[in-house]
Amino acid sequence: MNIKITVIAAAILALSAAAQTPVYLDETCPLDERVADALYRMTTAEKVAILHAQSKFSSPGVQRLGIPGIWCTDGPHGIRPDVLWDEWDQAGATNDSCVAFPALTCLAATWNPEMSALYGKSIGEEARYRNKNVLLGPGVNIYRTPLNGRNFEYMGEDPYLSSRMVIPYIKGVQDNGVAACVKHYALNNQEVDRAHVNVLVDDRTLYEIYLPAFKAAITEGGAWSIMPGYNKYAGDHACENSRLLLDILKGDWEFDGVAISDWGAVHNTEKVAANGLDMEFGSWTNGLNFGASNAYDRYFLALPYLKLIEEGKADTAMLNDKASRVLRLIMRTEMNRNRPYGSLNSPEHYAAARRIAGEGIVLLKNDGNLLPVRAGVKKILVVGENAIKMMTVGGGSSSLKVQREILPLDGIRANASAKGIEVAYERGYVGDVTGEYNGVTTGQDLRDSRPADQLIADAVKAAREADMVIFIGGLNKSDNQDSEGCDRLEYNLPYNQDKVIEALAAANPRLVVVGITGNAYAMPWLDKVPAVVQGWFIGSEAGDAIADVLFGDVNPSGKLPFTFAAALTDYAAHATGDKEMYPGVAGDVTYKEGLDVGYRHTDRLGKDHVNFAFGHGLSYTDFKLGKAVLSESKIPGDGSVTVTVPVTNTGDRKGAEVVQVYVRDVKSSLYRPYKELKAFNKIELDPGKTADVTLTLDKNAFAYYDPATAMWTVEPGKFEILVGTASDDIAGRLPLAVTTPAIWHD
Ligand code: BGC
Repeated sequence: MNIKITVIAAAILALSAAAQTPVYLDETCPLDERVADALYRMTTAEKVAILHAQSKFSSPGVQRLGIPGIWCTDGPHGIRPDVLWDEWDQAGATNDSCVAFPALTCLAATWNPEMSALYGKSIGEEARYRNKNVLLGPGVNIYRTPLNGRNFEYMGEDPYLSSRMVIPYIKGVQDNGVAACVKHYALNNQEVDRAHVNVLVDDRTLYEIYLPAFKAAITEGGAWSIMPGYNKYAGDHACENSRLLLDILKGDWEFDGVAISDWGAVHNTEKVAANGLDMEFGSWTNGLNFGASNAYDRYFLALPYLKLIEEGKADTAMLNDKASRVLRLIMRTEMNRNRPYGSLNSPEHYAAARRIAGEGIVLLKNDGNLLPVRAGVKKILVVGENAIKMMTVGGGSSSLKVQREILPLDGIRANASAKGIEVAYERGYVGDVTGEYNGVTTGQDLRDSRPADQLIADAVKAAREADMVIFIGGLNKSDNQDSEGCDRLEYNLPYNQDKVIEALAAANPRLVVVGITGNAYAMPWLDKVPAVVQGWFIGSEAGDAIADVLFGDVNPSGKLPFTFAAALTDYAAHATGDKEMYPGVAGDVTYKEGLDVGYRHTDRLGKDHVNFAFGHGLSYTDFKLGKAVLSESKIPGDGSVTVTVPVTNTGDRKGAEVVQVYVRDVKSSLYRPYKELKAFNKIELDPGKTADVTLTLDKNAFAYYDPATAMWTVEPGKFEILVGTASDDIAGRLPLAVTTPAIWHD
């Protein structure tokens, strides 16, 4: 009896509690109803308060209603250490060491969306465990110039490749109830004068080259937030740019998330109130170094905005829209009680970092099959600063505090010793011995007082005594290298490295050069060096992942996500040395090269202008593409066609190849690049095995953006479908006729 009464009372209590649960807290109600309910309960001041920061990385919620705030974190390669409330310096916590995943250039080089999904899942779990709601990444700005200091945070030169790779990353992150914040929207392609440089670009180039990855991130990846960048476009800062934010993002792409300013990228209350930015962070800082203390009430979207509203000078519908978006973001993340708990520094995350790195490292050259390290090699000499330098500290906002980072030399030593190979080390050159960022220090003492000639002489002597030499150099995360806030000063490697490499090549012909960079670089010694590897910045598992590839435990399958041109002038932005094109004149930078970015430009130059082409990457086995066939020889303009090509592993070990399909418009009324990537697929095959790879091309593969009509347009006529394994290695060309036109709005 008693039990029965208790059960009934509990049921009544539960029912009445349910009846009293406000809609905004009731997760069984539709999201938009919950947002509307919360908004209805809020005062104007509360609505304004949730639109701006309360600390370096957080914004307040609505404490009166029990609505939590937002905590952001960089991004994009690992979860940044916590900083002090109002300072950039790290807080010195003991629970914020993380796994550093490979830089996004390396992820893009996998050409494998599954790796992108694994990356997003893993980094999302780390963000979730650290109680972050917004991960400030991934970055998808197009690789326009190899001097851009932040290229390592992006996904290369091709709009199609970066579009396909960004989607699974976002989904993987957001499955954890953590928002991805795709950045830096849009046209943030250089660091020189980044806070003000005004980009002038024609509409066609904007739509075909610089917007597609952002569009894919929003419309297919479903990103819950986006970060307008520092730069201007067509006269207005990205955060105050009605075309970018209202017309394109929130209009054409129907974005329902939050546009979060880059740190310190807002400049004007009226403009930002009217033009579509939803949240403001980092004002009165240059993004990284200094800041007015506790200036949060003075933010453009704080008291000045409230004043405008109260005076009737700003649109309250716009305020409600901004606040609704922020509430939606909070409900999608912090207020989602069903989201998983996440995990930090798990064995799975280290395994993911190593696997992604293994698939992203690119074997650029391997004459005489110098790699993998053969049986018979007894003594290896490793030379170069990047073999012993931690690369996870520095480089700007992507700097991390890692639980561990395996250095290349240590990874090589561990792998070699298991095989009974002796490893010696020589420095070769001294680059940058610093290792500190916002109070996080590497703790490494890299000083070496030997003069440059002595360093070379010592390395050469040791090289003569070794069976093979592995030079590990490149760039680093210091200013004017691969780093935020400034661009590189030259295309050549810094710190005398070209001279060191030349000397090593003369001393021992069995030389491998491993470039640890996020950018392409000049290789004046290329003819004298039989093997070259692109090693990227690969984070916690760097040493093991590089050793995996050098010793053949992993068969390389990475492909370049951007062109390694021979000289700086082989990039269109630098072709004529026109300063209006780079770095800009009187505040304007003009993208006069239009569509001719990366291979779209070098395709029109001779082979001498390219050291390694977009899409290039070798394997320790060989692949052969058979005869490709199309499902149709004619299609209507809005139709689609499949390409099928048999791929055979003709070598003697398992490996993976990337089939790349480029479309060429034989005759067009508007200029078109010679060819453009429109499909790819990575396939792994056992030796001797053949499998068909089928790829689909839909109307998007044939369209150009017509600036006269503002419509995507497919023109009837002859096309060629080029099937290959690199942009400069096309095995088959198939004719296709498009019979009718098609046009559509974005
Ligand atoms: C960078 C962003 C970063 C933000 C917060 C800015 O300087 O441009 O990419 O997310 O700082 O650290």
